[in-house]
Formats: sequence, C-alpha cells, structure tokens
Amino acid sequence: MSERPILRLGTVKDVTHFQRHLHSLQLNIPCDSKLIHGPDSPFRVPLARGEIKIGNRIAVQPMEGWDGTPDGNPSEHTIRRWRRFGQSGAKLIWGGEAVAVSHEGRANPNQLVAAEHTRKGLEKLRGVLVEEHCRKTGSDDGLVIGLQLTHSGRYCRPNAHHKPEPRILYHHPVLDRKLGLAPDHPVLTDGEIGGIIEQFHRAAKMAFELGFEFVDVKHCHGYLGHEFLSAHTREGKYGGSFENRARFLREVVQGIRSNSAKMHIGVRFSAFDSVPFRPDPTLSANGKLGPGIPESQDNLIPYRWGFGVNSNDPTQMDLTETIRFLFLLEELDIPLVNITAGSPYYNPHIQRPALYPPSDGYQPPEDPLHGVALHMNVTRQLKEQFPNLIFVGTAYSYLQDFLPRVAQAAVRDGWTDLVGLGRMVLTYPEVLWDAMEGNEIQHKRICRTFSDCTTAPRKGLPSGCYPLDSYYKISALAEQLKIAKAGK
Ligand SMILES: Cc1cc2nc3c(=O)[nH]c(=O)nc-3n(C[C@H](O)[C@H](O)[C@H](O)COP(=O)(O)O)c2cc1C
Ligand code: SF4
Repeated sequence: MSERPILRLGTVKDVTHFQRHLHSLQLNIPCDSKLIHGPDSPFRVPLARGEIKIGNRIAVQPMEGWDGTPDGNPSEHTIRRWRRFGQSGAKLIWGGEAVAVSHEGRANPNQLVAAEHTRKGLEKLRGVLVEEHCRKTGSDDGLVIGLQLTHSGRYCRPNAHHKPEPRILYHHPVLDRKLGLAPDHPVLTDGEIGGIIEQFHRAAKMAFELGFEFVDVKHCHGYLGHEFLSAHTREGKYGGSFENRARFLREVVQGIRSNSAKMHIGVRFSAFDSVPFRPDPTLSANGKLGPGIPESQDNLIPYRWGFGVNSNDPTQMDLTETIRFLFLLEELDIPLVNITAGSPYYNPHIQRPALYPPSDGYQPPEDPLHGVALHMNVTRQLKEQFPNLIFVGTAYSYLQDFLPRVAQAAVRDGWTDLVGLGRMVLTYPEVLWDAMEGNEIQHKRICRTFSDCTTAPRKGLPSGCYPLDSYYKISALAEQLKIAKAGK
C-alpha cells in the first residue's frame, strides 16, 4: 500500500483540483470541466440496437434487497426503493435487484424470489417504477427495464442471516477455507444444475409475461453464474474447457428463447478479478481491521480458480477469456452487457471502491480511485473491441461530487454507452438527471461510500442508506422500538 494518505474527495474544492489530483495519481479518468445541459448533453443521446431503444444514457445498477418478506415478496421498503429507481430518470433499469430463481438460491432470507406466489409483487414493483418514471420525465418512451435473475451458489443464505447454505460447483482452496467448508462438502451435480437452469427458464417466462423488457442472467460477484466461469477443476459437462464453463449460459439462453422468443437477454459479468483478500493482521489494531492484502497463493500456481485473472500471477487480470465470453454473447445475440468485477465477499475494494469498508471488511489497500480507473479503462477497452454491444459501465459512485463530470466525459468519448449508478441511487437517485437538466447538484445528498448500506443488511436491518436517507433513520428507529416493545 502506498504511504500517501488517501485524499477524501469530499474535501476537494473544485473540478480543477480534482483533475490535478487524478494527474498526481497518474490515473486515466476523463473528467469534463463543465457540465453540458439541455439538448447537447451527451446523456440525452438515445441508443438503439434492433428492437432495443433506450431513451438516455443513464442506468440504474441492480442492488440486492434485504427487505422482502420471508416468502420472497416485496415489502413497503422494496416498493419505495423501486419508486426511487423510477425517480432517477434513468432510461435503463438493469435488473432492479438480484431476484432469486428459487428459495434455495437466495443470498439472504429477505431477498426477492421469482415464483408464482410473487408474480403480483414483482408486477407491482415494475408498475410503481414506471409510474414514478413518468411523473419525473413525462413519459415512459425509451424506458427499458430488466430483471436480474440469480442463484447465489456459494453464497446462499435462504433461511437465516447467520446460516450459510453454500451450493458449490467445485472446491476452492481459499474460499472453502474462508467459508469453513469441509473437503467432502457436496458439489452440485449435473442433474441439480439442470434443475436450476429450468428455474431460470420459468423465472424469465414470468418476467416476460409481466412486461419486463429483458432478463439479466447474472454472472458476477462470486454467485453461481460467475462460479461456472471459473470451474476449471470441475469434472463433467459444466467444467474444464471454456465451452463447458459457458454451457450454463447457453442452456439458460436456449430455454428462455424457446419459451419467449421475444424476450431480450442481458448479462452482467465480472469481467476481471483477483484472488481473495483479507485484512493485513500486522496492521489491524484496536478493533480496526488493517488494509486488504491478497491471500497467499503458495502452491496454487498455475491458478485454476479464477476468471479474468492471469493464472501465473492471479493478482493481475487477464482479459483473454473475457473477450472470448463477449464473442459468445455476440454469437448468442445478447446485446446488453454490464461490466463489473470481483466480488463483495472476497475482494470488495475491486467490486465497489469505497473509502469506508463495511464493518466486517478491510481498509482499502489503495486509493479507491485506482479501482474506479480500472473499471473504466477495462470497459473502454472492451467497448472498443465490441462496438455493436451495448455496454453499461460500473463503479462510478466513489467519484462523489465529480461523478456527473466524469460520467459525461465517459459517455461522450465512447468509453461506455451508459453509466450505471449503484450506491449513489440509494442516496441521490436523480443525480445525473439533475446534471443533464441543468438543475443544481445537491452535494448534501452525494454518497460518501460509508458502506452502511452493506453493513446494515449484514446485521439483519433492511437495505438502504442510513447516513443520508432520513427514511432509514426513521425505519431503523421504528424497528428498534418494535424490538424493545416485544422485549417488555
Ligand atoms: C447494497 C448493495 C447491493 C448490491 N446488490 C447487487 C445485486 O443484487 N446485483 C448486482 O449485480 N450487483 C449488486 N451490487 C453491486 C452494484 O450493482 C454496483 O456494481 C456496485 O455498488 C458498484 O457501483 P457503485 O460504485 O455505483 O456503487 C450491490 C451493491 C450494493 C452497495
Ligand atoms: S450507506 Fe449511503 S453513503 Fe454509504 S455507501 Fe451506501 S449509499 Fe453511499
């Protein structure tokens, strides 16, 4: 880790100082000096590929909810969140949030599930989003809404917050140890995988019937779809060669197309990765975890447990198979691609650059701007090579007050087609709408990457931005009151 302290972006006075700061870190991040509003705003340029017509360049990234009902229906908190997705003015809603294709595949016991008994609930979510979007923008022309379909694989926790129930595709020398898995922990059989694939087919059919324009077959962040891509050591038809590791995707797509030929498909995938990290024990003190360092890879070279990593030095990325995967997406006629990286479970600084780690995490091992630059530059490189695919870029929230200017430059210069907003949507959903319309940017609502939206759910509270969104302060208090009353 560099000796230089990380500069808090909230203290950077203006864009000139920010640009200088980027320069001093030798980071290639484009940043416009001025925001362009009105008809010339790059965010306003619509995008069309065949039947897909997206009205502007703003996208909302999926964000898992921890606030559904135990049977997988939305609660009032979930409905409010989706309303706010509509309020963002974004014309591409990528998934809303990860929706499990079965109860067993949930990442938490309050995650949404796509099933007959949740049909009305999911319909309602889409409905409130469209309603709010129309209120904000005047119409739903060019609004494209997808549902992110997921199975949580290694990170399943369907029944209780403190009870992991991992469903794995292969034994991982580091992650098995981190999760406390015994060497004989069962591996999903090919037959069980076939069953999961059918669940994706059923869920996508329902999404189509409910009017969602596309489904995302999630392949990121260490969940099941992503784990297939790194299943080098798995035997049988879903492991080993690239063809076998991508078989899951092909079979999911085949079934979706045969049920609902008109359903569009997208894929969000971790395009690059690294090894799992842990807090540096020599720098952890007084209850504060040290900065992240890579877990040891002694005796693990060539590394056979990653996707988008260099097998001779897995702390470094290698995009060879990433590019092969994008060729496959083209071949499968999947036009919507969302580039993300790593995993919140084993290298969160790569997946979501933040200044403050969640309470069970580690201090950032580098200035989080490095992570932002990496996401942006990889997306740029891939976009250049695949001009016909529609790319959504990720990891912009850490840019804070400078997000709109960086996003504007990235879209205008073709680094990405759309800018995807994650955490920023929880606190200030309409930030890019305001930039595009020339409304004053509300700096008090800017996400400061405090990570409470990750810490709170890990402690069993509903998902949301506790520091900046008063709604959650109030509902957290109400929750505490309820618990206190119940205890009397
Ligand atoms: C609370 C929370 C929940 C998330 N849930 C999901 C999810 O369900 N699916 C997904 O693909 N990514 C999920 N992510 C990752 C975000 O979509 C996004 O990639 C990440 O936050 C980085 O973007 P940002 O810098 O704009 O926040 C989640 C992130 C957060 C903070
Ligand atoms: S809790 Fe709020 S401020 Fe903190 S990272 Fe999440 S959205 Fe941003």
